Amino acid sequence: MRSLTAKELRQLYLDFFRSKGHAVISSASLIPENDPTVLFTTAGMHPLVPYLMGEKHPEGKRLCDVQKCVRTGDIDEVGDSSHCTFFEMLGNWSLGDYFKKESIAFSWEFLTDEKWLGIPKDKLYFTCFEGDKDAPRDTVAHDRWVEMGVDPSHIVYLPKKHNWWGPAGQTGPCGPDTEIFYDTGRPACGPDCKAGCDCGKYLEIWNNVFMEYNKVADGVFEPLEQKNVDTGMGLDRTVATLQGVESVFDTDAFSGIIALIAELSHKGYKDDPETTRAFRIIADHTRCAVFILGDQRGVTPSNVDQGYILRRLIRRSIRFASQLNMPRYALCTIAERVIDQYGEVYPELNENREKILTELRKEENRFADTLKKGIKEFHKLVANLEGTEIDGVSAFHLYDTYGFPIELTVELAKEKGVTVDEKGFAAAFEEHQKKSQAGAEQRFKGGLADNSEATAALHSATHLLQAALRKVLHDDTVSQKGSNITAERLRFDFSFGRKVTDEELREVERLVNEAIAAKVPITCEEMTVDEAKAQGAIGLFESKYGEKVKVYTMGPFSKEICGGPHAKNTGDLGRFEIKKEEASSSGVRRIKAVLIHD
Ligand code: ALA
Repeated sequence: MRSLTAKELRQLYLDFFRSKGHAVISSASLIPENDPTVLFTTAGMHPLVPYLMGEKHPEGKRLCDVQKCVRTGDIDEVGDSSHCTFFEMLGNWSLGDYFKKESIAFSWEFLTDEKWLGIPKDKLYFTCFEGDKDAPRDTVAHDRWVEMGVDPSHIVYLPKKHNWWGPAGQTGPCGPDTEIFYDTGRPACGPDCKAGCDCGKYLEIWNNVFMEYNKVADGVFEPLEQKNVDTGMGLDRTVATLQGVESVFDTDAFSGIIALIAELSHKGYKDDPETTRAFRIIADHTRCAVFILGDQRGVTPSNVDQGYILRRLIRRSIRFASQLNMPRYALCTIAERVIDQYGEVYPELNENREKILTELRKEENRFADTLKKGIKEFHKLVANLEGTEIDGVSAFHLYDTYGFPIELTVELAKEKGVTVDEKGFAAAFEEHQKKSQAGAEQRFKGGLADNSEATAALHSATHLLQAALRKVLHDDTVSQKGSNITAERLRFDFSFGRKVTDEELREVERLVNEAIAAKVPITCEEMTVDEAKAQGAIGLFESKYGEKVKVYTMGPFSKEICGGPHAKNTGDLGRFEIKKEEASSSGVRRIKAVLIHD
């Protein structure tokens, strides 16, 4: 088996799939576009949903990439050997091209061939979907592994809970999967221990999803028009496996960061389990915060949505740094190391270096002063507690006065063996502030936006809105900072330094409606980013490998790089009406607008 660094594995993976006719595409932003139901890109397939649903991808039907992902659902698990909030997912896709047989053959060759990873075949185990009322038992995948030379005793069938992936939210593309595990050699936890068991013996390194269904509602799965393959391999986990180390934090990706934390805290990473956990949390959360702040659609700490998650990550990191007696601005020092390490692969981190460090410093200033006082207050609260629950008003006081995110109070309470009245907290919060961050968390349970006509029309209106804003505000630096579309409305965030006046808003409305009245066709062309720039297209120029992008044109009104989907003609949009203009964050304004069909 080859021992590879993270950098080498990234390269090898892309080289392998390129040799199999796949186009390498750039990692999309961590902040999903036009998707009201999720805060972050959580898997490689996420930015590709429109193409899995049938949109044509400009780079063809075989794609591969290394996608930046954030998942905070398992945030409490961070500190163990394998969980991270930020991770890089290696993925290859067939968009209606090859299916199970080729996908399994590709995986087998990449994993076991000496030229690629050279993992001993007897160390690999597999799971396949056992079948239920929604889809048949996946004997095709099973038999294909056997054809590859896998001993049938290394393959188990498991139910949907284990071997079905997607949709990323409540609806969307999904299907049975086959998962690939590496046997770490640790003893089995019992007689039933087999691939899929989470005791740590079998480490999942790759997931091949056969996306041939569209979940349209609970329990309702419709066949997709095209049969897709979606795969995901966690970079850090696989590197840990190849390097034969105990955890992802012991790989070359983290060793420099961990050494720096030791230097800053004058403690040893392996001093005791609590210190190890604190080191890992600081390393993981700071890395994640750097990627969110430094993203091409970067976010800053706030009390809502992505900004709230970012704030939680930073504050949790500060708490553990303070526990280890690390100096003020330690996170900035760690962040610099993260940027140095990843800047070559993710140039946006270098481009946003100053912003990342400034925002981290600001957040440390905001929180570090009150943290110690807040912790004191918390201990007092627990000492005087009657019963075993902290009431909502006290928890709100910790939030309001000392900046403790509720999750931090809950975590501290857990360490003391008490609970928190979270409902009471929410009620106290609502009372003081109409906008509650509880909405943000619920998003994780949501589904991916659908591709219905309504959302496509609002998406097209968003392009017209951006073009009109640039015209009316006489400002070519007005650029998109976020777009969020539900079936009912669009929400568009853009960089601009002041309030947009009522007259300006009316003029923007008028221009958008003029473009709608012109009934021009909405056309799509594929070209390189350089060609798009030369044609004056606006949008995020995020292609790193010179791959093609789609450019949507609406007559003389708008030309923008975008994945789609869109309406066919501006005449289909309805009447455009702005409902609200407000500040979103510093230097960023937000417009909410609707399309009315009279
Ligand atoms: N989408 C699949 C996953 O994230 C590959 O595991």
